[in-house]
Amino acid sequence: AEKKDLQNTVLKKLEEVETIENSESLETEFNIDHDKLESILKSLVVDFYIELQPIKRQEIRLTEEGQECAEKGTPEFRIFNLLEPGVETEKVDFHNTHGIEITKQIISKLKLNKWANLGKSSVTRLEGVEAVDSDRAILEEMLADPTPTKYDNKKVKELKNRKLIKFASITSYTITKGVDFAPEVVEREAELTIDLLRNDEYKNKIFKKFNVLAKGIEIDGGHLHPLLKVRTLVRDIFFEMGFEEMETGQYVESSFWNFDALFQPQQHPARDAHDTFFIDEPKYTKEVPADYMERVKNTHEKGGYGSIGYDYDWSEDEAKKNILRTHTTGVSSKVLYKLGQQEKFEPKKYFSIDRVFRNETLDATHLAEFHQVEGVVADYNIGLSNLIEMFKVFFKKIGIDKLKFKPAYNPYTEPSLEIFGYHPKLGKYVEIGNSGVFRPEMLRPMGLPENVNVLGWGLGLERPTMIYYGIDNIRELFGHQADMKKTKSNSVCYMSTKDK
Ligand code: PHE
Repeated sequence: AEKKDLQNTVLKKLEEVETIENSESLETEFNIDHDKLESILKSLVVDFYIELQPIKRQEIRLTEEGQECAEKGTPEFRIFNLLEPGVETEKVDFHNTHGIEITKQIISKLKLNKWANLGKSSVTRLEGVEAVDSDRAILEEMLADPTPTKYDNKKVKELKNRKLIKFASITSYTITKGVDFAPEVVEREAELTIDLLRNDEYKNKIFKKFNVLAKGIEIDGGHLHPLLKVRTLVRDIFFEMGFEEMETGQYVESSFWNFDALFQPQQHPARDAHDTFFIDEPKYTKEVPADYMERVKNTHEKGGYGSIGYDYDWSEDEAKKNILRTHTTGVSSKVLYKLGQQEKFEPKKYFSIDRVFRNETLDATHLAEFHQVEGVVADYNIGLSNLIEMFKVFFKKIGIDKLKFKPAYNPYTEPSLEIFGYHPKLGKYVEIGNSGVFRPEMLRPMGLPENVNVLGWGLGLERPTMIYYGIDNIRELFGHQADMKKTKSNSVCYMSTKDK
């Protein structure tokens, strides 16, 4: 009932004066508090009785400390009164007796006002000085009239810096009649019900209008992370090129599949705890195919397939150690082994895009977990030229059409190529991936036929994503410092391919 009374008060007033220039006049005239009036006004807007035009202004508010100053005087004034004229007092003693600390800020005030002489650790109130607490007077005035423009700008700034006052933003309104103005609120039906229809009662009712201008609620469902968007794009490219996706759900892998199966010797530095995360529990894997493991052991120790091996004692324990996979090639090795175990070989193209882990020192360009894109092609009698041709097609689809290659080394590929792509914004070639033709020492123990070659390449997912989204620091892209707002506001990413 009170709400209705207030609504009617406003409407009646508006009927009288046609326009209410500033709703604050209603606050004083009808003794309504600001927030309550605002909610009444908004309720009238919803039903189109009135229209509101906001008027914003700033008001001074005393902070708790400012309030205290207005009541009891500023600290410097209180201290002045507590000090005996002409008597040098140690600041520590003063603090002990009165419980008030003479801070640096207060000292500068005492000096500025010429109320006291300051020693290193003491204060002496000057004799014959009559102190006037003008700041207190101003604060009291501000309580009565909080309009900032009424006061000296410098003073306002100073009091604000001293945290004695702060600003509050006040919104009031100019009120005009709305399209459905009436001098009194009328009950309105919110819904057209069956009952109202049946006995034609609806004819005597006034209905609430739909407010099609009401602000909609922001849809705040899931948003795809930039990495996921770029992942989708790269995935689609692989599918276009006829690749099958490898299963990559398993982050914990044995050293065997991650390193040994790839002909990576056990004393290789990458297998060190400095570079690889080892799992404590369970420390070892149980399942490695025994006969295959034996062939891997032999190849490492003695070689075969035209190789002399590494000539060391291969340790099964070392191979069975569980780790967080350091590259997606640890997944490819398993898939290629399965392919080698099939009765009849058939050419295959596989890819994967997923997370890998390295025990790295974190900085602006390195994370301990990141994502790799990997492609693997197995077919009869293929080699380096096929690999290079494949890159031309693949990288063109991601928007990179100038490529350069550099000989490189991987324990599991020979030859190996580092791939460089031309970055138009940077105006130079940047490293984009690593590749090679898998070694027979890796493929033959898996059971892949003599004349079958396998090509492979890998690249990071983060680097291209950062380039496309203009992110310089990898930590802004991925990890706990990544900004969720960016994930929401990022555009859908389209790579700039020429033929699109
Ligand atoms: N595994 C390599 C890396 O982590 C990439 C690669 C994959 C190289 C396949 C050759 C063949 O950089």
